[in-house]
Amino acid sequence: MTDLYQLFIYGFFKQSNLVRSMKKIAMIAIVIGLTVFFTATMAQSDSSNQKATDVITLQEPRIDGKMSVENALMQRRSIRSFTKEPLTLAEISQLCWAAQGVTDDKGHRTSPSAMATYPLELYLLAGNVTDLPSGVYHYSPQDHNLTAIAQGNKIPELFSSSMGGKEDWRKSAPAVFIVTGVFERMNKIPGQDLSRFVYVEAGTASENLLLEVVSLGLGSTYTAGFDENKTREYLRLDSGETPIAILPVGHKAEAA
Ligand SMILES: Cc1cc2nc3c(=O)[nH]c(=O)nc-3n(C[C@H](O)[C@H](O)[C@H](O)COP(=O)(O)O)c2cc1C
Repeated sequence: MTDLYQLFIYGFFKQSNLVRSMKKIAMIAIVIGLTVFFTATMAQSDSSNQKATDVITLQEPRIDGKMSVENALMQRRSIRSFTKEPLTLAEISQLCWAAQGVTDDKGHRTSPSAMATYPLELYLLAGNVTDLPSGVYHYSPQDHNLTAIAQGNKIPELFSSSMGGKEDWRKSAPAVFIVTGVFERMNKIPGQDLSRFVYVEAGTASENLLLEVVSLGLGSTYTAGFDENKTREYLRLDSGETPIAILPVGHKAEAA
């Protein structure tokens, strides 16, 4: 009887030890699981906030295009429909340079600037460009290169809202250029608001790009109608920088 009792008690203890061990293992598994989950979540949010540092070197711009300025002016038309053909990195290089490229050793650019203050910045949303991963890029005129600030094709997302019940045609562009302005660079003279100069400069830089588009046999449209908040978000702009013009570029699917 005593032996049986002892056996019962021993069995009980043995079982409760087992239960305790299992509880301990379960707790450790939960702690490990939560640690892995939080680490992964933090890493993910870090990578979406962080500006990537990939730098894409662009080839030297060509300055011997075969089309005359007059011919480009004659042919320029707003194009709002594109084929699925990709753009090349050489075309992207040429277009960045046409808009804001440096053309002398003093740092002057293709586009004029009031008091040489250069208040513009140029961004590229690459969706379908050969030799360039899809992403959001910032153009450096001084270095003639692109720095990646986000990965992935953001063009369909940026233009996902319909306009008056119609799909935004800009969604289908293989590449989209965005001109922004930093107003404080221009507004250096006390008591004078020279903000309008920044808009004028965005116009001249954009026209340069549009003429280069024609010269390359591509199509584009100058657009100033867009969702400012969404554009700011995708370019990760701070409050001192304002998106002014959006130029989707691609191969023409319509007759000019
Ligand atoms: C300041 C400005 C803003 C424009 N905004 C848009 C726009 O948001 N969407 C669009 O499809 N076209 C836009 N356009 C293009 C005009 O509609 C186009 O230039 C006009 O119809 C004349 O046609 P063309 O460019 O073929 O000569 C804009 C043009 C300018 C100058």
